Amino acid sequence: MTISLLRQYLHPYRSALWAVAALLLVQALGTLYLPYLNAQIINDGVVTGDIGVIWRTGALMLAISLVVGVVSVAATYLAARNAMGFGRDVRASLFRQVDSFSLSEMNEFGAPSLITRNTNDVQQVQMLVLMGQTMMISAPMMLIGGVFMALHQNVRLSGLLLVVIPVMAVVVGTILFRAVPLSRVMQSKLDALNDILRENLTGIRVIRAFVRTGYEQDRFERANEDITDVSLRLTRLFALMMPSLMLVFNLSAVAVVWFGGGLIGEGEMPIGDLTAFLSYIMQILFSVMMAVMLFLMVPRAAASAERIQSVLSTEPSIQDPSSPVPAPGSGSVEFRDVEFRYPGAEEPVLCGIDLRLEPGRTTAVVGSTGSGKSTLINLIPRLFDVTAGQVLVNGVDVREQAQEELWAGIGFIPQKAFLFSGTVADNVRLGRRDATDEEVWAALTTAQAADFVREFSDGLEHEVDQGGANLSGGQRQRLSIARALIRDTPIYIFDDSFSALDYATDARLRTALGRDPATRRANVIIVAQRISTILHADQIVVLDHGRVVGLGTHEQLLAGCETYREIVSSQIDESDLSGAS
Ligand SMILES: Nc1ncnc2c1ncn2[C@@H]1O[C@H](COP(=O)(O)OP(=O)(O)OP(=O)(O)O)[C@@H](O)[C@H]1O
Ligand SMILES: [Mg+2]
Repeated sequence: MTISLLRQYLHPYRSALWAVAALLLVQALGTLYLPYLNAQIINDGVVTGDIGVIWRTGALMLAISLVVGVVSVAATYLAARNAMGFGRDVRASLFRQVDSFSLSEMNEFGAPSLITRNTNDVQQVQMLVLMGQTMMISAPMMLIGGVFMALHQNVRLSGLLLVVIPVMAVVVGTILFRAVPLSRVMQSKLDALNDILRENLTGIRVIRAFVRTGYEQDRFERANEDITDVSLRLTRLFALMMPSLMLVFNLSAVAVVWFGGGLIGEGEMPIGDLTAFLSYIMQILFSVMMAVMLFLMVPRAAASAERIQSVLSTEPSIQDPSSPVPAPGSGSVEFRDVEFRYPGAEEPVLCGIDLRLEPGRTTAVVGSTGSGKSTLINLIPRLFDVTAGQVLVNGVDVREQAQEELWAGIGFIPQKAFLFSGTVADNVRLGRRDATDEEVWAALTTAQAADFVREFSDGLEHEVDQGGANLSGGQRQRLSIARALIRDTPIYIFDDSFSALDYATDARLRTALGRDPATRRANVIIVAQRISTILHADQIVVLDHGRVVGLGTHEQLLAGCETYREIVSSQIDESDLSGAS
């Protein structure tokens, strides 16, 4: 999983990756050569008093240091550019992939998880790419090179390596081994805290109204304590890290000096070699530390890579056909023996639906909540695919049409009006980008939104918050109606779009829709709860538990459909009661 993700997304950067490797090789060679030269200065210059050797070797060391400096800056810069580019590409792919998802895949992953996958998980893998480039290449080079040079300096003293390398690996490993799971726990605790916070912020009114503030505070406090506890344990571990490392480094140095001093005393080793050996052992220990760190970073990044891959490898269940059939027309819709079952559900939500909806006519869909009204109309723009039967738009199965062309012919007003951050005009123009101000106003007027928009001091330029949070439910609904009306499409679908409007606005809106030439010739489908909203529809579809139990005009259904009569009488009773009180 990790490998294939890395291979695919690092492919465009392969020449830059080779460049980093080459630069790091130069850096490693330089770094390994410097202690050797230093030993020479001491052995051949300082000890013998030869100033010439000191100057010449010193100048060479200076030049090498300069090269190493430049090369490491360049390597780090390139490595960072590769890693950031990699992250950008993966995020873009994820975003595009999620964009192509149908509602089923969206439901399967869930929005919060898709967000963390595109942010946190990408960051984990990006981190691995960044550290990996430098550490994965330079740690082994420094380790092998260091051991080689140490052996070259003094074989007997190199026996020390057999002790200090394992000690270093064990010390770093033990600390990180305990820290890594803790930091994972930390992450999940943070998620829990975020959840509580988010729920509190969005549900603040409900929490207050139901006097749950105390309970919520307790809940937050517990999560907060949890986090503090874990992060304290984590910090204590890391506080241990530095001193332990220094201890290993310094004890190793003491051992080198102790045994090296003995060798020098016996005349077995020139004094300069001791300093070189000291440098090599430090370099070796440092690379062991890096290798262990990297080793422990891999599983975490691998988990993230897996979460990313599972999004990238999910085939959208709804895709354009390989050779789309063009379906121009005036907007007829037909359901042929349609059955629909949500993924994973046992019972079908819709069953045996046969309907013809014609342009120039208004079809209303009524039924109790959960009877399948939204599901039925979501099949028309192919938000879901039928599990049996066919949905045809302009006489062609929607699965054979190009999705964008299908959507372009449908003005859809969803049950939950969603607006985007931007101005009122931006939101309406989402329907048609090149609409003039006059056209925007005309759509707003038909949607009965012109009055309240005019009341804003900045009119069309009034800022709408994300999701339309600064507007009332009814205002949001009317703006989303205007957004659909401005498209002037052959099919209009209103999913319960009138429920947040008061009776008078509802009536005015319907009158305006009836006068608007665009909606008059269109195929208008209205899902509604209120009988008054649909009284004058050309045909009314009565849904009950996903089946059509009545089809006809208001009068016909009153005469012949029991379910319809029940809906009507329940609403008349209601208004009687409210009139009496
Ligand atoms: N995404 C989903 N996954 C699984 N089941 C779903 C999903 N959406 C709806 N359902 C189920 O399908 C049934 C019909 O839902 P639908 O939204 O079509 O009802 P509705 O008639 O529009 O109701 P309302 O009048 O409340 O809007 C319900 O029983 C519901 O539980
Ligand atoms: Mg609904």
